[in-house]
This record gives sequence, structure tokens and C-alpha cells, in this order.
Amino acid sequence: MAVAMLTTGASTWQPGPPPQITHSPHPAPGSISRFLAHHWIYPLPPEGAPPKGYTALEASLAPESCGVCHRRQYDDWRTSLHSHSVGPGLLWQFRIMGQRQANRCMRCHTPLAEQKALAALEFHWPNVPSSPLPAYVGRHLFRQGLVCAACHVRRHQRFGPPQPPGMPPGNTPGLPHDGFTASTAFQHSRFCATCHQSPPGGRSLDGKPFENTYAEWRASRFAQADVTCQSCHMPKRRHLWRGIHDPAMVRRGLRISLTVTRAGKATADAQAVIRSVAIGHDFPTYLVPKVYVTLYALDPGNHDVHEIARKVIGRSVNLRLTRELFDTRIPPGGKSVLSTRLALNPSRPVKIELRIEVSPGAHYERLFRHELGHAARYDKTTVTILRQALAQTIAARYQLTRLVVPVPSTAGESKQAVAN
Ligand code: HEC
Ligand code: HEC
Ligand code: HEC
Ligand code: HEC
Ligand code: HEC
Repeated sequence: MAVAMLTTGASTWQPGPPPQITHSPHPAPGSISRFLAHHWIYPLPPEGAPPKGYTALEASLAPESCGVCHRRQYDDWRTSLHSHSVGPGLLWQFRIMGQRQANRCMRCHTPLAEQKALAALEFHWPNVPSSPLPAYVGRHLFRQGLVCAACHVRRHQRFGPPQPPGMPPGNTPGLPHDGFTASTAFQHSRFCATCHQSPPGGRSLDGKPFENTYAEWRASRFAQADVTCQSCHMPKRRHLWRGIHDPAMVRRGLRISLTVTRAGKATADAQAVIRSVAIGHDFPTYLVPKVYVTLYALDPGNHDVHEIARKVIGRSVNLRLTRELFDTRIPPGGKSVLSTRLALNPSRPVKIELRIEVSPGAHYERLFRHELGHAARYDKTTVTILRQALAQTIAARYQLTRLVVPVPSTAGESKQAVAN
């Protein structure tokens, strides 16, 4: 999330001894909490030297190496934001931050010790590895973002969800990388909470944590029905993780309608209703995105267009993250209504238009603009990266919905248009 002035111990990187080739360094499967506490321990220790007998391909942490055998996951992942978690929006901040602070960010954006070591080299931080990094790390692992190994590899061993019935179990001898250890923790929403939920006692505003996605999900009917984060964001185990940046994903989660009623000879009522029908948390869950809902009145030739009502859906905070400005997010199953009455000229037909626009990175857009306003503070390269970050955020905006309904000609009559 945003620039946070937090400090914790920096981690020095050491490759460590080779692991023993046994299959369960983690707690026994069954205890999801204990598995996850171990799997997402902070900071993650280095993988260490690969077990004897691993080929260079099996030892490699690079996602493209995994992709040689796991093509589908790799092709999906490459299109997801998890593979873009190191972008200009993060990089300009790393140039002005100390290593300790950046390590905090990397807990979610690039959690592997090997990635932190590469970042230290890139940014000339004090705790750089004293010897060249081993070949299995690869040279691009930091820039590659939330890589496969961050979720699946510990001490060079693979961890994944149980195989479907009929497939060979994980630790069948002779499989590449000595097979894997299966844990149902991969199918649980708590697996994602590590990065998508502020920890208890973490930073909050008005009693609400900055990231509260898991708690929102827990309180929803989706949790009762065992519809997990993975059910919606990884259907059929696909590694796509579509979210607010994807118009089709957002449309699937909402039901949107526009109703126009002729109230009298010279008046009409317009009402837009946005219902959250298939979103397992608040819409949107973070304080970053904003959704702009606008009603326009226009003549049949679309010449004379004017705004008649407007509303913003989202949680808005000031740039220093010390004050909440408003919170109009829609809880799961809830709705947001925008309605207005307009005066008509009885001799002129009018149409009403509902337009919904989404800015997935609205908070960052404000932040980047603000920082560019103080560009003199930064060196040339930082300013260039900051400009790229702003351009990327602006390019991510899109129009979600456009509905048009003519004002009916007889009083008392209603007309409706529905999206989805
Ligand atoms: C608890 C996990 C977590 C931590 C710690 C964290 N982030 Fe993020 N960050 C996220 C998530 C999740 C998103 C996606 C939010 C969204 O899509 O609305 C994100 C999005 C971003 C984005 C916008 C996307 C982009 O790539 O431009 C930036 C910039 C960013 N984070 C910077 C930082 C910085 C700088 C830090 C450290 C001060 C940090 N983050 C710490 C989880 C985290
Ligand atoms: C030489 C081929 C090969 C390479 C390289 C490889 N894998 Fe595998 N992997 C397999 C095979 C074969 C299996 C067992 C059958 C299956 O699930 O596809 C497997 C199983 C897995 C599983 C368990 C799947 C499940 O059902 O739970 C995970 C997770 C996994 N690999 C992750 C990775 C990651 C991450 C990398 C890269 C760091 C990687 N693998 C590199 C061949 C490979
Ligand atoms: C190690 C930390 C980490 C874990 C674990 C993790 N995520 Fe993420 N996730 C992130 C970060 C960081 C981003 C933001 C990437 C960016 O845009 O810079 C993100 C982005 C996303 C997005 C895209 C949001 C958007 O703005 O469109 C979705 C959806 C998502 N994650 C879902 C999940 C789900 C579901 C799981 C569990 C299976 C999960 N994540 C596990 C760190 C994590
Ligand atoms: C953010 C964490 C995360 C990242 C990054 C990630 N995975 Fe996964 N992966 C999961 C989860 C969670 C599941 C289980 C999903 C489920 O069961 O619904 C899974 C399942 C798998 C499986 C078993 C799939 C099956 O169909 O049985 C394989 C193989 C795998 N991942 C490989 C990879 C590879 C290769 C990459 C990188 C290209 C990768 N994963 C990146 C979290 C991740
Ligand atoms: C019932 C389906 C469903 C479930 C369950 C669900 N999501 Fe989502 N999620 C969506 C849809 C649809 C969107 C796009 C609309 C939006 O942004 O809220 C989304 C958006 C997101 C985003 C984008 C950022 C934002 O501000 O909205 C993230 C991150 C995310 N989900 C993470 C998670 C995590 C983590 C869980 C589990 C704790 C989860 N989701 C459970 C459907 C679901």
C-alpha cells in the first residue's frame, strides 16, 4: 500500500546450508494455522543450497523455469498483477527509502530472501550479499514480483494443494523436485490473508484497518457457504487473480440498474442502483480504488449533455493516511443508490444516461501528482520513474457501465435498463 514510515530489522542475506531431503519440515497437514504461521514466517529465510541430485532446472527459483513444466500456471501468472508487483509505483519509493522500510514493503511485494538480496544490490543498500548470488537465484527474481517460489517453495521443497482424486499423491518417488508436500492450507482464504489483511494491531484509521479483506470476507455469507478467495479469484485453480483492474471481473460482481419515472408533467425521477451480488468483501475492498457514478440528462441527439447527479464509491483518506474523508463502499450483498429529481421542459424529449467509471489506482494517482508537484526534491531518474507510475495509473482507468433510458412521456410511467 502507500508510503508507510515503518521500521524493522533489516535482513542480511546468507545462502545457508543445504536442506535435508525430508518431506515435512512444516507442521503436519491438518493444522492450517500452524502450517501458515510457518509457511509465511517473517522474514522468510533463504532457500539455502539445493538438495543433491537436483538438476539446474529443478533448483532454479525463476518463474520461467517453473513454466517449463507448469506452462498453464506460468502463462496465467504472467498476465496477473502478482507478476507486476514491482512496478514504477514501488520503485521510485525504494529509491528514496532506507533498506529497513523497503524490507517491510517486500514482505508482500517480493517476499523471498533472495529477492531482498537482489534489491540490496540494485539500490546499493548497506546489507548487500558479500559473494555473487548462486545461479539458482537468477538475475531478475526481484523485478519479477510475487513469483511462484514465494507461494510454493521453502528450502527448495515444493508445497501445493492436494491433488484431485485419481492423481498420484505429492511425494511419489521419481517426480521432478522430489514431488511436493500437499496442504489444504492452499485452498483456504487464510492463505491470502497473509498479504491482504492488516495483522491484529496493525495500522488503522477510525478503528478500521487499512487492509481488511479477510475480515470482510469472514463476516459475509460467502464465508458461511465456503466460497473462498480462491473460488472467485482462482477458479479451477487458474492463476489469474483478476480484481478491480479487470472490467469483466467487476461486472460479474455487480448488478446495475437505471430507472426513470415520469413524476409529473414537468418532473422526472432518475435512480441508479448498484448492487454487490458476487463480491466476497467490500466493493472496493481497499482505500486505493474509486468508482465514479454519474447521471446525465441529454437530448435525443446527444448534443446538450449535462450532469444531474454524482457520487463516489470508495474509502477515501488523506495522503498522509491520518484522516478518513469518507467511506461509501458497498458491503457484500449491499447496494448503493444515486437518485435525483429533474425539471423537464414538457415540449422537449430527454434521455437519462448513467455512466460508471473506475479508477483502480485513484489514491496513488493523487499521491504521484502531489509528489511530482515537489519534483525538485528528487533526482532526475526518480522523477522519470514517478512520471511512469502516474502514466500507468491513469492508463488503468476505464468505463465500467453506460446505460441510457428515455424519460417516459406519460406521468406515472417508468422505464428501466439493467446491466448484466
Ligand atoms: C500487507 C501487504 C503489503 C505491504 C506490507 C505493502 N503492500 Fe503495497 N500493495 C499490497 C496490495 C495487496 C496491493 C494491491 C492493492 C490494490 O490492488 O488495490 C498493493 C499495491 C501497491 C501499489 C500500487 C500498485 C503498483 O504496483 O503501482 C504500490 C505503489 C505499493 N503497493 C507500494 C507499497 C510500498 C511502497 C510499501 C511499503 C511502504 C508497500 N506497498 C507495502 C500489499 C502490501
Ligand atoms: C522438470 C519439471 C518441473 C519443474 C522445472 C518444476 N516442476 Fe513443479 N512439478 C512437476 C511435476 C511433474 C509435478 C507433479 C505433478 C503435477 O502436479 O503436475 C510437480 C508438482 C508441483 C506442485 C504441486 C502441485 C499440486 O498439485 O499441488 C507445485 C506447487 C509445483 N510443482 C511448483 C513448482 C514451482 C514453483 C516450480 C519452480 C520454482 C516448479 N514446480 C518447477 C514438474 C516440475
Ligand atoms: C505474499 C503476498 C501475497 C499473497 C500471499 C497473495 N497476494 Fe494478492 N497481491 C499481493 C500484492 C503485493 C498485490 C498487488 C500487486 C501490484 O499491483 O503491485 C496483489 C494483488 C492481488 C489482486 C489484484 C487486485 C487488483 O487490484 O486488481 C488480487 C485479486 C489478489 N491479489 C488476490 C489474491 C488471492 C486470492 C490470494 C490467495 C490465493 C493472494 N492474492 C495472495 C500480495 C499477495
Ligand atoms: C500468490 C500465491 C501464488 C503464486 C504467486 C503462485 N501460486 Fe500456484 N497456487 C497457489 C494456490 C493458492 C494454489 C491452490 C489453488 C486452489 O486449490 O484453489 C496453487 C496451485 C498451484 C498448482 C497446482 C495446480 C493444479 O491444477 O492442481 C501448481 C502446479 C502451481 N500452483 C504452480 C505455480 C507456478 C508454476 C507459479 C508461477 C508461475 C505459481 N503457482 C504461482 C498460489 C500461488
Ligand atoms: C464471491 C466472490 C469473491 C470472493 C469470495 C472474494 N473476492 Fe475479491 N473480488 C471479487 C470481485 C468481483 C472483485 C472486483 C470488484 C472489487 O474490486 O471489489 C474483487 C476484487 C478484489 C481485489 C481488488 C482490490 C479492491 O480494492 O477491490 C482484491 C485485492 C481481492 N478481491 C482479494 C480478495 C481476497 C484476499 C479474498 C478472500 C479473503 C477475496 N478477494 C474474496 C470477488 C470475490
